[in-house]
Parts: sequence; structure tokens; C-alpha cells
Amino acid sequence: MSDRVYLDHNATTPLHPDVVEAMVPVLRDGYGNPSSTHAEGAAAKRLVDRARDQLAACLGAKPSEVVFTGGATEANNTVLIGLSDLPGKIVTSAVEHPSVTAPLEWLEARDAEVVRLGVNDQGMIDLAELEAALASPTKLVSIIWANNETGVVQPMVEIAERVKAAGCLLHVDATQAVGKAVVNFNDVPADFLSCSAHKFNGPKGIGCLVVREGTGCDSLLRGGPQERRFRGGTENVASIVAIGLAAQIAADGLHDRIANYGALRNRLWDAIKARIPDVRRNGDEASVLCNTLSVEFCGAAGDVLLQSLDLEGVAVSAGAACHSGSISPSHVLTAMGRSPEEALASLRLSVGLGNDSEQIDRAAYILEPQVAKVRAAGAS
Ligand SMILES: Cc1ncc(COP(=O)(O)O)c(C=O)c1O
Repeated sequence: MSDRVYLDHNATTPLHPDVVEAMVPVLRDGYGNPSSTHAEGAAAKRLVDRARDQLAACLGAKPSEVVFTGGATEANNTVLIGLSDLPGKIVTSAVEHPSVTAPLEWLEARDAEVVRLGVNDQGMIDLAELEAALASPTKLVSIIWANNETGVVQPMVEIAERVKAAGCLLHVDATQAVGKAVVNFNDVPADFLSCSAHKFNGPKGIGCLVVREGTGCDSLLRGGPQERRFRGGTENVASIVAIGLAAQIAADGLHDRIANYGALRNRLWDAIKARIPDVRRNGDEASVLCNTLSVEFCGAAGDVLLQSLDLEGVAVSAGAACHSGSISPSHVLTAMGRSPEEALASLRLSVGLGNDSEQIDRAAYILEPQVAKVRAAGAS
């Protein structure tokens, strides 16, 4: 696998080597249950407490506000379903991740009212439309901070100010933003924030929901007293240790990482523009994650291009979702006004840990003939 170029870090990231090193002894020897009152349990509890401190510090939250979950899907579901008894509608956007859209559709089928804000052709929410939506009773606003497909970063402080002025609760899906942008729960007066370790070089299946002190919602997983009764179930101690360390590493190197990933992403885009005709970038270039490049290769079938790149050793993602074997255009790109054909011709390339400029140049070199081949096949 070593000569492959992995450009799909928004799907998931490799583990940081220090995170692996930190997990192994816990998996091997740290088998205590943090709820047990003996020495083994107390040792495990200390590990969980330290990880909670590390994650809270990374997110600008209080340790007591951090609830470990099995990832961001669970965190998003917890908030959306856990507030279902409150009166009022939910306001969200047309470009959310399925872990938000699916529970909202489930709630709508049970008579909840959901208003979806549109985005402009750059993928940005219109603040005036948000204000208009907030004019009638609203319990919750749920907005993705940075889009997983385009990397577009929403103006979260401005959104939060408006939501708070209207007296509503705010949930932010910060899953793509953590480790790639400044995310500070102190600066954005949200009530809930979701994130997931595997997007910032931690393992899969562990994430957190930050719940602002004084706020709350029903728990999704009722059980034992873990996580202040907010999330029953024996803690996944090794993964909690891992998310703690991954968060600390993410915070410590944030500014260097933003510069480094940004330089690689720009190098890739420059090379693509120089080598390949008829390409168009999706999303606001002035407000985008440092690592993400969503590109329409006009006239090329994105799913076919993805497969040919994979065969040539380059891993990317398509602007499409596969449902029951059929390909449908990305709802994010169509919400931005792209036609189904344009959306289906788009690829997402996302850089991250392990990429270097040699790999970026190789990927661009491989892309050029593959795009030409896929375009020619589509035209014939
Ligand atoms: C924006 C966003 N929210 C939520 C999720 C779901 O995260 P998890 O895989 O931890 O359930 C993802 C994962 O792709 C994501 O990109």
C-alpha cells in the first residue's frame, strides 16, 4: 500500500503513530472497568478522566461538558432525538451529513417540523434566511460547521449570535472542523457540539457530544450511570485514551497543520488547473477547510473516475452517494445549484497526515490521463 496516495481524509484518517502507541498498553493491560472501585477500575477511571481533560482543552470546553459517544453519528442522533419532546420546530441546512438528515427525516415522519435553509452556489448559508426562520417558534438549530463534501466552513459565530438572540438551542456538527480549523466551544455559544476521533487521526467508533453546562437533552442510550447517566454502557477505555491524545495532538499542531495541508491542497488544485481543461472548483474558496478540494471534472463520470484512479493507486471520493446499487448525485452539490450531471462529475480530494508534495504531484500526474480516458469513454 505504501506507494498509494490516500486523498480521502474527510472519509477517515490514518491513526497517528503516538495514538497507536498509547492504545496498545491499554488494550493489553488496562482492562479495568472505570466504574469498579478496585485498583484496576480506578486506573481505568484515571485514563478516562485524563482523556476528558485533553478533549475538553482541545475544544475549549469544560471537562464536565464532554460526553464520550460511539462517534459523531451517535452524538448527532442524541441531540436531535433527545430534544424531541420540546415544542417548536427544528431549523437545519440543506447540506447536512446523513447522520443529521436521517434522524430529522425520522422525526418528520413522527410529525416534527423541520425547516431546511438553502445555501448559495458557494455552499454558504444565508444569515437573513436564518433570521427569518427564527422569527417563528424554534427549539433547535442544527448546522454543520464544515461540510464533509466541499469543506465549506459556515460563519459559525454569526450563526450562533443569531440563534442565541432568538433564544433557541444550537447544535453544531463540528466533525470535519476539529483538527483542521479553530474550534472553540467558548467562542461559539453553542449548546451542543459533535465530533469524531477518526476524522483527526484517532480510531473509529469513538467521538463526543459536548453539552453546555446548564443545558441538556434526553439520553439516547439508557443504562448504567456512565457519562453522568447521559450515555449508558461500559466505557471503551482504549478508544477514549486515543481520542484524548488525538485531540491533544490536533490542538498542539493546529496552526502548522492548517498551513501544511493548505499548501498541499493548493498545490494539487494548481496542478489540476494547469494539466486538465474544463475543471471547476465546488464551494467558497474564501471559507473552506484547509485540506479539502471538491472539483468538477466537467463531462467525466465521477464514479468511473474514482475507480480508475483507485486502480492507479490514488484514493479519492465521489460527489455521489450509492443507494441500493444506484448512484445519485450529492445532495450537497445539488443544493448549491449544480445539476445532477455536474454533481456526478465531481470528486472530493482531501489531504491529511502522511501526504507530501511528491504524492500530490504524482496524484496530479495520474489524474490527467485518467480524466481524459473517462471523458472519452463517456463521449463515445
Ligand atoms: C460532518 C460529519 N458529521 C458526522 C459524521 C459521522 O461521524 P461518525 O463516522 O463518527 O459516525 C461524519 C462522518 O463522515 C461527518 O463528516
